[in-house]
Amino acid sequence: MKHSLAAFLIVGAFGVSAAPSDGCGQAQGLESGPQSVNVNGQDRQFIVRVPEGYDHNNPYRLIFGVHWWGGSMENVAYGQTVEPGVWNYYGLERLAEETAIFVAPQGIGGNWYNEGGSDYAFFDEINRLVEGSLCVDTDLRFSIGFSWGGSTSVGLACRGGEFPFRAITAIAAAGPFECNPGTAPVGYLGIHGIADNPDNGRSMRDRFINNNGCTGEENTQPAPGSLSHVRSDYQCSGPPVTWITFDGGHIQAPWDGGGGDNGSESYVPGYAWEFFTTF
Ligand SMILES: *[C@@H]1O[C@H](CO)[C@@H](O)[C@H](O)[C@H]1NC(C)=O
Repeated sequence: MKHSLAAFLIVGAFGVSAAPSDGCGQAQGLESGPQSVNVNGQDRQFIVRVPEGYDHNNPYRLIFGVHWWGGSMENVAYGQTVEPGVWNYYGLERLAEETAIFVAPQGIGGNWYNEGGSDYAFFDEINRLVEGSLCVDTDLRFSIGFSWGGSTSVGLACRGGEFPFRAITAIAAAGPFECNPGTAPVGYLGIHGIADNPDNGRSMRDRFINNNGCTGEENTQPAPGSLSHVRSDYQCSGPPVTWITFDGGHIQAPWDGGGGDNGSESYVPGYAWEFFTTF
């Protein structure tokens, strides 16, 4: 009686129920740093970051940070090209405060062509390895990426698959991606510059508006020269969809009041973290 009341109170109070991975309750099987995994005969690399004070009984969020065209896993994991330390995993490492496991996969030659499904198989293999070696909440997988890293996150999300994502953030999403069958409902936060190609981002957003059963209208995008951003939230029967346009070009760390990337001033990490932690 006492036990079931306690369980009721916990579920009632927080409304959450974790789906612990095979690595929960086991000795920590991966250390932070570069890793190698063989995928269909090919050696592939990724960087993992395990929270300080890792608790093998705590199911953590798992967040992929996917690099852009010509980028690298180091760029993502260490915040290179924007602001080292501050921009690690698109600024989310800092905001997570040791509550999430992060992974940065390396594309072959800095690309995500996914030839013969090779990149998606690589992501699946990372999931298998990380979730078997560390304690992950398998209901709480996320991905964030810029440019081709954004569209690759879109492709991984809308296909569903064996390791479905709960939500993604696509910054200036661009680049080829496969989405088959493409009907998976996944939380979608899209962020795109008006001087970039926002219609490209809108077409990806609209897939999730459809998949997630959303209605609503986009707010008027910011005026050129305003150095600001505009947010639109849709009403969805499934997972949420949010769309942000900003006055700027093809960049990953937009901020209000200035042009170009600024890691410490950018609103992107705050929005992405807020979005991911609604789940
Ligand atoms: C980013 O913003 C901070 C604080 O406003 C400022 O000190 C810094 O110079 C800016 N960096 C860039 C690259 O604009």
